[in-house]
Amino acid sequence: MKTLRIILLGAVWALMGAVHAQQRADYQVIPLPQQIELAPSGKTFLLKNEKQIHTSIVPDSRNPEGYSLVVDAKGVHITGNSEAGVFYGLQTLHQAMPQGYPVQLPYVHIEDAPRFSYRGVMIDVSRHFYPLEYLKKQIVAMSRYKLNRLHLHLTDAAGWRLQINRYPILTEVAAWRDGKTYKEWRDRGTKYLHEGDPNASGGYYTQQEMRELVAFAAEHHITIIPEIEMPGHSEEVMATFPELSCAGEPYKQGEFCVGNEKTYEWVENVLSEVVQIFPSEYIHIGGDEANKEHWKTCPKCQALMQREGLKDVDELQSYFIKRVEKIVNKLGRKLLGWDEILEGGLSPNATVMSWRGEQGGITTVKAGHHAIMTPGEFLYLDKYQDAPHTQPEAIGGYLPLKTLYSYEPVPDSLTVAEGKLIDGVQGNLWAEYIPTQEHNEMMIWPRAMGIAEIGWIQKGHKDYGAFHQRVLKQLPVMRQLGYNVFDLEHEVGNRSEYDHPVEHLALHKKVTYNIPYGNQYPANGEATLTDGLQGGWTYIDKRWQGFIHDGRLDVIIDLEKVQDIHSVQATFMQTEGAWVFYPTSVDIQVSNDGENYTSIYKGGVPVNRAEAFGFNTFGWQGSQRARYVRYKADCSESGCWLFTDEIIVK
Ligand code: ACM
Repeated sequence: MKTLRIILLGAVWALMGAVHAQQRADYQVIPLPQQIELAPSGKTFLLKNEKQIHTSIVPDSRNPEGYSLVVDAKGVHITGNSEAGVFYGLQTLHQAMPQGYPVQLPYVHIEDAPRFSYRGVMIDVSRHFYPLEYLKKQIVAMSRYKLNRLHLHLTDAAGWRLQINRYPILTEVAAWRDGKTYKEWRDRGTKYLHEGDPNASGGYYTQQEMRELVAFAAEHHITIIPEIEMPGHSEEVMATFPELSCAGEPYKQGEFCVGNEKTYEWVENVLSEVVQIFPSEYIHIGGDEANKEHWKTCPKCQALMQREGLKDVDELQSYFIKRVEKIVNKLGRKLLGWDEILEGGLSPNATVMSWRGEQGGITTVKAGHHAIMTPGEFLYLDKYQDAPHTQPEAIGGYLPLKTLYSYEPVPDSLTVAEGKLIDGVQGNLWAEYIPTQEHNEMMIWPRAMGIAEIGWIQKGHKDYGAFHQRVLKQLPVMRQLGYNVFDLEHEVGNRSEYDHPVEHLALHKKVTYNIPYGNQYPANGEATLTDGLQGGWTYIDKRWQGFIHDGRLDVIIDLEKVQDIHSVQATFMQTEGAWVFYPTSVDIQVSNDGENYTSIYKGGVPVNRAEAFGFNTFGWQGSQRARYVRYKADCSESGCWLFTDEIIVK
C-alpha cells in the first residue's frame, strides 16, 4: 500500500501536460545521478503507465537514500535501500519523463545515492506568515529534487507562529502585530495586538495543522525541523512574558533573562509541547545574535555568573545553551543551533549550523561535533538573485544561481574524518522583505535546485554550464505546475562594471588610509581602491571596501609625480536594509607636496532611507595639476556604513 501511495505521489508530477505519443525520457535530472549507464544499443522500453514500474527494497543502512533504476527489455525496476530510496528512484524516473505517459525509456542502469544526509531549506514564517498550503506546495517541489529537510523558523520578534497549549497568549497576542508587512510593523513601533483587533496582522499554526504538515512531509521523505528562538530574537515572548526579560517590562528587551530560573521552566514547558508535534531528531533553538548587554547589569545574571564562575557574558550564554541542551536531551532529542552557540564553549552534544561563513562549521567539526553548512555568502536565499533593479525589493546582497552552485560544503582545511562530520547544506530564506507567497517561492526556485545538487553529487562532479541547462528544462515544468519561479531565461547577471576593469592614472598607486577601513569588509586591503576592479551588486563580493567609524572615509592617493588631472570619481553603494548609505558629505582635495591641500569639490546627499538599493557616483571634473589626491567622505547617520570600490583618477 505504502509503495503504491509513493507511486501515486510521484505520478502527479508525470501527469501534467498533454500526452504526446512516443516521448523519449532524458535522465539528465536534478540532482544529477551519480552513475548513469545508457545501453550502447540505444534501445528503449515503452512505458505506458505507472503500473509497469516494479519496485523493491533491499535494505542498506549505510546509505538509506540510495537506489538503483534499471530499464531493460524486462521493464522498469527500482530497488531502494529503503522506502526513501524507492521514492528517489521514482523522482528520477518522473523527472526524466516530464510529458507523462506513454514514454520511450532508453535502456539504462542508474546507481545513485546522496553525498550528504542533510539537504535542507529554511523558511522564515515569523517575519511573514504563510499558509499551511504554501508550505505543502514547497514540500512537494523539494521532494522532487530530493531535498529532505524543511527547517521552519517559527518564532522571532515579528511573530510567534506555533500554538502552545500551556501559553495561549503566544498565539493570542505574540502572533499578531501592528503592521501587515515587516517594514510597516517596524515603522509603526514594533507593537503586538490581540487576535481580532482590526489592525492585527499575522497568524499561527495550530498543533493539529503542524502535525498534518509533519505527516505530509514524511510522505515526501522530508523531516520538518522546528526552530524556537532563544535567548535572543525573542521580543514577542518578552512582550507577553515580560517577567522573563532582565528588564521585567514589555517592549524593553528581546532576550531571555538567563539568570532567572523561570526562564528554564518556560523553555522546558514550551519544548515539551514542541517535541510532541515534531518527531525530528533535532530541535533548533536558534542561539544567534543575542544582545548580551542586559546581562552585564542584571543582578540575577551577575549572581549566576558569580555562582558558576563564569568569566563573561559569552560564557553566560553558553551556560544557558548547555541547560537548554539538557532539556532537549531529556526530551529525547538533540540540540541544533546557529554558530553563536560556539561562543563561550559548545555544549556537549550540540550540532551547529554555520551561517557567519564557514569558520563556525570548521571549529565545530574540529571539536568532534556535527555541523551543517549554511554560509550567508553562498546559501542565503534572501539576497537578490539577479540585478536588483529587475527584482522585487530584497534585503540586499546578490546570490545568483551560479555563485550558489559554486559552493563546496567541505572546506579544504579539514581532514577526511573531520569532513565526515559535515552533515550537509541548507539554504536559508529570511523573510523580512518577503510579504507574499509568490515572492517567497520565487526566491526559493530555482536556487533550491542548486542546494539539492550541492548536497547530492560528489565533489568535483559539478559543472555549472550543464546544470544551468538542466535547470532551464525544469523551469517550464515548474511553471506549468503552478510555481512562481525566477525568470532564469532572462537573467541579467552582475553589474556590468564588475566585468570591466578600468584604466586610470591612479591604477596600482599607493593609498594611505587616514582612517582605517572596517576590518569586516577589507575587500583587497590597501590595493582595493586603485586595483582597477569595480564592484558588483553586493558589498560582500570582495571588491567593495567598507568604512564604519560612523561611515568615514579619508584616503590619500600618491600619483608619484605632479601631473594634469581632469577627473576624480568614486561610486558608493546604498543598501538601506544593511544600513549602508551614500555619503552625506564628500570633499576632494589635491596637493603637490602632500602637505598643503586645496579642496576642489564638495558634495554629498542627505540620507534617503526610501532608496532601498542603488549606486551613486560623487566626483569632480575640471583641470588641475597635482601629485596627491585626497578623497574624504562622511555619512552623518549614526552607525552607518560607506562602501566604495575604486577611486578613479583621469
Ligand atoms: C542568522 O542569519 N541570524 C542565523
